[in-house]
Amino acid sequence: MNYLGTKIISLNRIVLTKFNENDYLDLYEYASNDEVTKFLTWESYTTIDDAKNYLKNVATKYDSKTFRWAIRLKENNKLIGAIDVTKLDETKEEVEIGYVLNPLYQNQGLMKEALKGVTKYLFNSCLVNRIIIRCNIDNLASYKVMKGCGYIDYPKLRNLKVKNKDVVIRYTYLTRTIYNYFLSDRYIF
Ligand SMILES: CC(C)(COP(=O)(O)OP(=O)(O)OC[C@H]1O[C@@H](n2cnc3c(N)ncnc32)[C@H](O)[C@@H]1OP(=O)(O)O)[C@@H](O)C(=O)NCCC(=O)NCCS
Repeated sequence: MNYLGTKIISLNRIVLTKFNENDYLDLYEYASNDEVTKFLTWESYTTIDDAKNYLKNVATKYDSKTFRWAIRLKENNKLIGAIDVTKLDETKEEVEIGYVLNPLYQNQGLMKEALKGVTKYLFNSCLVNRIIIRCNIDNLASYKVMKGCGYIDYPKLRNLKVKNKDVVIRYTYLTRTIYNYFLSDRYIF
């Protein structure tokens, strides 16, 4: 695997870049929304300082093994969401991806655009073997994003505890071989 980190990925309507410390208002706008965090592992932000602290302590710390993109609208550079590698297995050269989008920009195909861009980069440039995505079984929007990008269902579901609640999680995956063989020419942005 090539550890190339968070390189800029320019797509049709969005551009994926690193976060910076000036992103706190845009980040707070979606991270403070309970509807947005309902299926996520973290709680909604309650103060602007939560956003500032996340940017200072986590989101703006990058090295070659950090794959953490801010999703920005091309037209005005506004931060509208995030997509990142949440788990990296160096032995298997396998990653897990997570994503989130400001509700004002949902249902326009933007996360499918972002996921295709990141999938293509991780397979073609970083030579990742396999990408896995998980979601709560009730999170149909997230599941449709994965399926819309050609991700394949794992046959088994898992019962996990998330934010102290018992939830059922489903997984999808893609391998580099499947991507190259069946999908790369169908990824239109
Ligand atoms: C999941 C999420 C990123 C999707 O982003 P998005 O840009 O709206 O996704 P897209 O527009 O590319 O595709 C969404 C699809 O889900 C569908 N959809 C949206 N809300 C839905 C709902 N409540 N029930 C069923 N389908 C839904 C859309 O119609 C679209 O379907 P299509 O593929 O047939 O066109 C966004 O809803 C989000 O940020 N949710 C909160 C955070 C989250 O759950 N992240 C994922 C954790 S696993």
